[in-house]
Amino acid sequence: MKHLLNLIDLTGDELRHLLSEAARLKDAHARRIPAHSLTGRVVGLVFEKPSLRTRVSFESGVAQLGGTALYLPGNEVGLGWRESLADFARTISNYVDALVLRVYKHSTLDGIAATGSVPVINGLSDWSHPCQGLADLLTVRELFGSEAGRTVAFVGDGNNVARSLAVGCGKLGANFVLACPPGYGFDEPFKADYAARVGGEPPKEFNDPFAAVKGADVIYTDVWTSMGQEAEREERLKKFAPFQVNAQLLSKAAPNCKVLHCLPAHRGEEITDEVMDGPACAAFQQAGNRLHAQKAVLEWLLK
Ligand code: CP
Ligand code: NVA
Repeated sequence: MKHLLNLIDLTGDELRHLLSEAARLKDAHARRIPAHSLTGRVVGLVFEKPSLRTRVSFESGVAQLGGTALYLPGNEVGLGWRESLADFARTISNYVDALVLRVYKHSTLDGIAATGSVPVINGLSDWSHPCQGLADLLTVRELFGSEAGRTVAFVGDGNNVARSLAVGCGKLGANFVLACPPGYGFDEPFKADYAARVGGEPPKEFNDPFAAVKGADVIYTDVWTSMGQEAEREERLKKFAPFQVNAQLLSKAAPNCKVLHCLPAHRGEEITDEVMDGPACAAFQQAGNRLHAQKAVLEWLLK
């Protein structure tokens, strides 16, 4: 049984396969070629947190492949509190062919994957966001022809989005650097996992955003306060203030540098309107690529 829980579980060849399939599906979609790879299949979507991109791109993607998506709000399903994770997983495996879950705790995904009998796709956890990472890499590939050899400077929190992108870059030969305030970089468990399962040079970390973006092909940012960290918001606003992606920071990167953001953006915090609405920003192309990357994942797991 294959799952998509973390990009680190995939080989470089599997990642490259998913990216080329995503590009093929994107082209087929643009040419309005009907697809039937998920006919008769049902994909359950269980979300403990809000979403626009992940939910809608999965629902649309499943429909475009001829299947049916079923949205199940987390507070109705009650993972681990209305019933045990194992009882949930064993029950729902009778009804759906795959599950997409957005959860607070990554261990919830592991528990369901271990006890259910259908593929589990991580639609964001506190640990990682692999579907986002795939769409990010697809976007870098489209913008630069190849991700290999490019430098991505992530300016912000060493969070779920940063971890997945760092791993994807590492596995595909792109350089990933992180700029964040002291104490907000990658934690020891991630560094150990990276060393063991990605290898090579570990991602460089900077406390100076200007040093980090020097020569970068891509500047990437995400919200400073992720879902579930709301109590830390005031403290984070202060600490991350010097890490805003603005025109001054962008001017220090490579001349044709592109700006990516997983969205939703908190304009005026981690990124300015000027950059979001400027010519370097490819965040909406990136958001569109969620659809195609996830269709490739669904076919990879279900076909
Ligand atoms: N980037 C992302 O996952 O967006 P949503 O939270 O809207 O799904
Ligand atoms: N790091 C953010 C990503 C949102 C798509 C969060 O977890 O809230």
